[in-house]
Amino acid sequence: MTVVTNETWESWLGPRRSARLAERYGTPFYGYSARVLRNRCRALRRAFPGALIQYAMKANSNPALLRMIRGQKLGVDTVSAWEVQLARECGFRPRAIVYSGSNPSVEELRAVHRAGAMVNLDALSALHRYGKLFRGAPVSLRLNLEIGGGHHPHVVTAGPDSKFGLSPEELPEARAIAARYGLKVIGLHQHIGSGVFELALWLEAMDALLEIAAAIPGIERIDAGGGFGVPYRPEEQAIELGDWGRAVTARMAAFNAQRTKKARLVLEPGRFVVCEAGVLVARVTTVKRTRDRVFVGVDSGMHHLIRPALYQSWHPIDFYPHRTGTPERVFVVGPICESGDVIAEERMMPVPEEGDLLVVGNAGAYGYAMASHYNLRARPAEVLVDGDRAREVRKRETYRDVVRARDV
Ligand SMILES: Cc1ncc(COP(=O)(O)O)c(C=O)c1O
Repeated sequence: MTVVTNETWESWLGPRRSARLAERYGTPFYGYSARVLRNRCRALRRAFPGALIQYAMKANSNPALLRMIRGQKLGVDTVSAWEVQLARECGFRPRAIVYSGSNPSVEELRAVHRAGAMVNLDALSALHRYGKLFRGAPVSLRLNLEIGGGHHPHVVTAGPDSKFGLSPEELPEARAIAARYGLKVIGLHQHIGSGVFELALWLEAMDALLEIAAAIPGIERIDAGGGFGVPYRPEEQAIELGDWGRAVTARMAAFNAQRTKKARLVLEPGRFVVCEAGVLVARVTTVKRTRDRVFVGVDSGMHHLIRPALYQSWHPIDFYPHRTGTPERVFVVGPICESGDVIAEERMMPVPEEGDLLVVGNAGAYGYAMASHYNLRARPAEVLVDGDRAREVRKRETYRDVVRARDV
């Protein structure tokens, strides 16, 4: 089975439509394609039959998208009490929600437990706290098996330097703590990082997890995390999701063949679900030539899409309308008072004119979700495109939304 896993925005947002949406909703705005989002969910379900796929909502928690994802029969992976609350408000049942928070407070553990979500815990002291609070509750343990990967060191979430997970050496003590409080260890979890393209690496980590799980009776959930890579640069290849699915499913079948009580595979993809379903659309405000560079200044920047500044990430871009001038080395920059406020660097393309639109592709994951108010600027509107229709699914913030202080 070949699963198409990359799709460009031109199929749903060309020059005419982006101009119409910019006119209607102003700029900048995030635009999302319902069709691409649904396709991603279906591709995952087809590739991993029988698995519980829990979308990592940290990638994009827009409620309209969450409701569509729920409609596609995915659950959610959450990292905060408010993510759990929002998931519930968007109709996810408690059993469809897993919480994999990092260093949770007691209040957060209480809120998550009250909501009925499954909890992945990854520190001995957290197990003590949870056990004292909720004797007899089911829990899942997050492990760090020292196999990590990802597109940037900041997003590698396993390995010797990672804050995440219990080490295999801590596992006996973790189980002893669980036993003391009657906690039932029904799951094992790991997430090796984000933006992983190497199937072999991901499988190595899964094998290590299964080996440990084989020695623990009562394991019902093998939560192998997310991290499926999505190509951003033209030379990057989409992962073969079919191969990924076949290999993982075969491993689960072999694992379950040895057990009377069968375990279910759980996956937590975030980026894969939403990345290619989203774009950021901004307007060119200033074209400025210095001795060495052509700066194209736009009305969006690192406060809306921090990935280029934070991870030196490369995003596909285009300007509308298409200009026909000689290509030059263009630097696309925003309005923030930082030299790192960059959206794209050194792109050979015809220089746009002030008033043109910029479209930034692959912006659906970790785009709006990581946006800030830095420099006292509003987060943009979000628009969902479904077939011929488009609707605003979150309004641009106002001055009052952003300031929210008592003394003005
Ligand atoms: C525990 C956990 N699960 C899932 C994910 C989702 O990763 P991705 O968006 O790369 O699939 C993350 C991302 O950081 C995570 O920390």
